[in-house]
Amino acid sequence: MKQRENFGSKLGIIMATAGSALGLGNIYRFPCEAGANGGGAFLIVYLIVALLMGTTLMVAEFIIGRRSHSNPIGAFRVLEGKKNGWMSIGWLGVVCAFLVLAFYTTVAGWTLGYLGKSVANHFEGQDLGQIQGQFVSFTNHPWLPIVCQLIFLALTAVVVARGIKDGIEKWSKILMPMLLVIMVVLCVKSLTLNGAADGLRFFFTPDFSKINGKVLISALGQSFFSLSIGMGALITYGSYIGSKDNMLSSSTSVVFADTLVAVLAGVIIFPAAFTFGVQPEAGASLAFTTLPMVFQQMTGGYFFCLIFFLLLVIATLTSTISLLEVIVATTTEELHISRPKAAILGSLTTAVIGVLATLSFREGSPLHLNGQTVFDMLDHITALYLMPIGGLMIVLFVGWRMKKADTLDELTNGGTLRAGIRKVVYYLIRYVAPVAIVVIFISQLVK
Ligand code: ALA
Repeated sequence: MKQRENFGSKLGIIMATAGSALGLGNIYRFPCEAGANGGGAFLIVYLIVALLMGTTLMVAEFIIGRRSHSNPIGAFRVLEGKKNGWMSIGWLGVVCAFLVLAFYTTVAGWTLGYLGKSVANHFEGQDLGQIQGQFVSFTNHPWLPIVCQLIFLALTAVVVARGIKDGIEKWSKILMPMLLVIMVVLCVKSLTLNGAADGLRFFFTPDFSKINGKVLISALGQSFFSLSIGMGALITYGSYIGSKDNMLSSSTSVVFADTLVAVLAGVIIFPAAFTFGVQPEAGASLAFTTLPMVFQQMTGGYFFCLIFFLLLVIATLTSTISLLEVIVATTTEELHISRPKAAILGSLTTAVIGVLATLSFREGSPLHLNGQTVFDMLDHITALYLMPIGGLMIVLFVGWRMKKADTLDELTNGGTLRAGIRKVVYYLIRYVAPVAIVVIFISQLVK
């Protein structure tokens, strides 16, 4: 049997996992969540939640992956055998990755289309109404968003088909530093704008009166999405981590990098929004209408708009790579087909659902259910149910089903790393994480 690949280095693990984590979740979801939930207050709650819960869940997924050296479905078979239903946790992760990838590639296609638009200077001299009109005509175009989506999936498949070291690790090491450089350039530009002080005050001044249950729920949901928790991606990447790598320190570095990038995104967006008197609105309208409008009003706007969409493409690509890898690792190992074949099969299957999500945006599209687009439905099913349920099952499995000695063995690399803080992580996995997820899951359902 062909030897299973591992990541080549600790840097490779961090870059690939950070690549999975950093994405649309950080660059446009986080600033919007912060904007809607009291700016600095949200930031503080998020930092605590991401550090405590995010790291805990990431480590739990890594433990399952590394202990089994298998894809999410195979992992539970290796650890528990076929019979007693534990493999359903793996199935949940793979289905979640598949559905997230499907709707994610809709927006991924837009980022590619908008990179093209910024190269072609489509925003110059346009007012907000015209730029909004461009977004409507782009998303309603009969084939353009679909072609962009398929190109994006093809790019993802090419990287994944090349394997762990030559594909995922190599490209993460190239793309992640690029992403950071672009973010720093955009931050510096944003900080020189007239409204920088107001924007930063809004983003960083905590208004503690705004901290309530809703902020907590939003922070947890954001940290799950942003850190790719419950999507099978971290179990899969965990299965490529070598026995000597320190999972806790890698996880902490990823959570730190992910949060840093989310904060940098706020530092880019709020000063720009305050300078040009626009409300930091939700999701798509912010990235695809407000920001192009803001860019074209500033000096050097052509260049900054172009690198902003390049940034979105890069961040999105490293996330789609990790989601497709879940499907590819599972199909290669479970169905014994080659990696390139699995990459083609996985991306084609994703394309079927993904294209429906893209088409559901068109005006008058029949692809609505209960007033929701297919896109929104996939987003809600995964964020409200699959990720929290998957996350919960994972911490219950690692904290209660696995033997304590085995979990600690993974956390301490067979006793070679100090147990102190790792024991705390064990108790976070066993007690704190399940309770927090249940409370938040229930309050979300009530809401
Ligand atoms: N973790 C990915 C993101 O934040 C899915 O976009």
